Amino acid sequence: MIDATPSVFDASLSGTGAGIDAFIDRHAPDSMHTYYGSGKVALRDGLAGLVEPGDNVVVPAFLSPAVVEPFHELGLESRYYAIEESLAPDIADLEARIDADTAAIVSVNYFGFPQPGLERIAALTDEYDCYHVDDNAHAPLSVRDGTLLGTHGDLGITTLRKLLPVPDGAVLYCTDETVTAQFAPSSLAGRSNRIATADCRFVAASIAERVLRTSPSLYRSVEALLADGTADSSSVDPDGRYEAAKVPMSKLSAIVADAVDPDAIRAARRANFRAWRRVVADREGVTPLFDRLPEGISPYEFPVRTPDRDSFLAALEERGVVGAHSWPILREAVREDDTYETSIRLADGLVALPVHQGIEPSAIEAVDDRLRT
Ligand SMILES: Cc1ncc(COP(=O)(O)O)c(C=O)c1O
Repeated sequence: MIDATPSVFDASLSGTGAGIDAFIDRHAPDSMHTYYGSGKVALRDGLAGLVEPGDNVVVPAFLSPAVVEPFHELGLESRYYAIEESLAPDIADLEARIDADTAAIVSVNYFGFPQPGLERIAALTDEYDCYHVDDNAHAPLSVRDGTLLGTHGDLGITTLRKLLPVPDGAVLYCTDETVTAQFAPSSLAGRSNRIATADCRFVAASIAERVLRTSPSLYRSVEALLADGTADSSSVDPDGRYEAAKVPMSKLSAIVADAVDPDAIRAARRANFRAWRRVVADREGVTPLFDRLPEGISPYEFPVRTPDRDSFLAALEERGVVGAHSWPILREAVREDDTYETSIRLADGLVALPVHQGIEPSAIEAVDDRLRT
């Protein structure tokens, strides 16, 4: 069975790796980095000293709805720019949204790949004298031409929860001198030094998950049962999601982050990305979003485009791939506006396939045979 996230018990984590901190120090020696429980709170703290209520932040329309919540908490307006098929910004649309109150422009490195047009965004932030936020939530270990993704702008973030089997965890990068000087960490900055109930709950869930992994049908039944019983609207409500993310990085996340071997994880993810590429190579109606896997990239997932997303997801699930999913759920304001037609079309036809280090490439190859039957 191929699920969405690695387990705390995966062998790939049991080595005596150098940990995430040393990796960041090695690849971003000139950035100051600070740990958080979530990327959203890291974004809030990073921008807090740089903006005034009434300013605006320009973000890509192709984005999960909760990401703009920290901007709203700071009294900022979020403005969405259109993107192209390649995920590059529609520069004319982006530029038209900038005005004297624009405090920052956000770029997003989708699925661990640098957003095409990063340099053009940097040129715009220079020209309009605003900050460039490099949102690298998806792939903490991606390096492009010697620069760690997340450190291309004046400030940036990355999310450890998307890489490791941890309940929470994120990093804020302050790259620019002014940003570093203005940064005042809130009480949510840093790593907790005691084991909390949430840590124990996470380990218990990992044990349960391990048992469920032995049987896709059992996994699906339990998943359906849990979905039925969720009265908690925070999973869909952006503001609720944001409020739930207001925790410091847990002790369990810190222990895992310190123990892992980033190079081994990146290599495993790359091998799984290539395995999926082979599996979908001659499959009609399934097109990889990225043709190439450049050196240094640590993919978050293997995204494909398909005209019939739901039947592809069903076919995958039938064959034990329970961790494939669509992405992102777009904000209403985006979904209802024709300007964002490309983002809507991309979101409606996208399936993200898991490549995490807990999967063996042979398990992905085996899906190939099953998809053909
Ligand atoms: C592009 C992007 N940026 C930021 C975030 C926020 O990260 P976190 O969940 O750590 O708050 C997400 C989360 O899904 C994301 O997809």
